[in-house]
Amino acid sequence: MQLTEYEQEMLEGRHGEGLQTAIEILVKMGGLYGAERFLPVKNAHIDAAAFTTIWDAGTEFVEYLVEKGAKVSVPTTINPMSMDTRRWREQYTSEAFAAKCERLRQAYLKLGVNPTWTCAPYQCTNVPVFGENVSWSESNAVNYVNSVIGARTERLPDLVDVCCAVAGRVPEYGLYLDDDRAGEILFALKGFDDSSFQDTVDYAILGYLVGETAINRVPVILGLPAGTMPDQLKAFSAAAASGGATSLFHAVGLTPEAPTLEAAFHGKKDYEIVEITPEAVEEMKKRLNTGDTDQVDMVLMGCPHLSFQEIKEIACEIEGKKVHEGTEFWIQTSHPVYELADLAGYVAAIEHAGAMLVRDTCLMEMEYNGVWKGKHFVTNSGKAAQYAPAINGVKITMADMKGCVAAAVTGIRPEEASL
Ligand code: F3S
Repeated sequence: MQLTEYEQEMLEGRHGEGLQTAIEILVKMGGLYGAERFLPVKNAHIDAAAFTTIWDAGTEFVEYLVEKGAKVSVPTTINPMSMDTRRWREQYTSEAFAAKCERLRQAYLKLGVNPTWTCAPYQCTNVPVFGENVSWSESNAVNYVNSVIGARTERLPDLVDVCCAVAGRVPEYGLYLDDDRAGEILFALKGFDDSSFQDTVDYAILGYLVGETAINRVPVILGLPAGTMPDQLKAFSAAAASGGATSLFHAVGLTPEAPTLEAAFHGKKDYEIVEITPEAVEEMKKRLNTGDTDQVDMVLMGCPHLSFQEIKEIACEIEGKKVHEGTEFWIQTSHPVYELADLAGYVAAIEHAGAMLVRDTCLMEMEYNGVWKGKHFVTNSGKAAQYAPAINGVKITMADMKGCVAAAVTGIRPEEASL
C-alpha cells in the first residue's frame, strides 16, 4: 500500500505503540483486499462491543491498545454491549458475566468512544453525510448508512473496526469504490399496493427475502411506496443483512444513489430480474414462523434498537393494558432514546403495563445461559427471526407492532389474540 507521510510515521511507531499496532493490522488487511491506499474517515462505529462477540481475547486486545496509549481519533459510536448496565439482574445475567462486560465497557470508555451502545447510531448522534467515507461495522448499520444515507463503508470485521477508529483510516476497497456500488440484481415488486407496506414487519420480511436471494450482490428494489419511512428502511436494512450479506441496496426513487433505475445500475442493462409477489412474501413469512404453540413466552421488539417514534407508537398502543402473566415483553433501545421517551412520558406508560425497556444491549448479545431455549417468541424483526433461533434456540412468530402488543397482553400468538 502507498502510505502518506503521516501514515508512515504511524507505522514506524512515532505516534505511539497503540496507533502503530492499529495501523499495522490495517496495512495487513489492506494488502489482503488489494487496497492501494488508505482513506481518511470522518467518523466510526464499532461493532466489537459485545463480550459474546469478542470474549476475553478481544477484551485484552482493546485493553492492550489503551495501555499503549491509543485513543479513537475520530468521533466513534459503539454497538450494544452484552448487558444492560442498569437492569442486568432482571435479565438473567450472572455476576461473573456482568463483571466481564464491565471490564470491556471500561476499556472502551478509556479508548474514548461515545458510549451510545446502540446498533442504530444513525438515530442517535452519528449521522454521516452523503458521499462521506466512514468506518462502520454492525451489519444493519452498514446497510443503512450505505443505502439510506449514501455514506460509504465496508462491512468491517470486529476489532478491525476498532483499529480504523484509532487510526482514522480505512483501506480503500469494496464499497468505498464507485464500481462496487452499482446494482447487480433487480427485485421488481408486482401485485402490491401501498396497504401492503403499512408496518415495519412488512419491510422486514421483504428485506429478508431480498437478502436471501441476492446473497452478496447489490440488490435494486423497484416499487417500494414513495412514503416509506426511515424506520421501515431500518427494518429492511437489518433483515436484508441477515437473510443474506447485503451491505448496500438501492430502492429506486427512495435512496440517494438510485433516483432512477439506470442510476442504480450505473447504466448497465444486463442484470438478473426477480419478480416479488405478495405470495412470495407470504411464503417467506411462513418460513420465518417456526412457532408451533399458541402460548407466547416473550415478545421482543427493538432489533435493531427502536427510535423515539417507534417507542411512542408502542406506548400509545399498550397504555392502560397489562402484560400477561407468564409472558415477557422486552423493548430494546439506546439510552439516549430512552431518555427522550422518558421525558415524553412513554417510559412510564410502557413500564406501568409491565413491559421492560432494555438499554445498551439486546437479548441476542447477552450471556448464553439457556434461559430461552425452546421458548416461543413473537417479534416484528427479521433479524431477530434469524438470530434468536440460531443463538438462543427459540421459535418465532412474526407480527406487526399491534400484533406484538396484543401477544404481550394476551400471552397468545397474534392469530389467536383477542383483546
Ligand atoms: Fe441490534 Fe442486537 Fe438486533 S445488536 S440489530 S438488537 S441483534
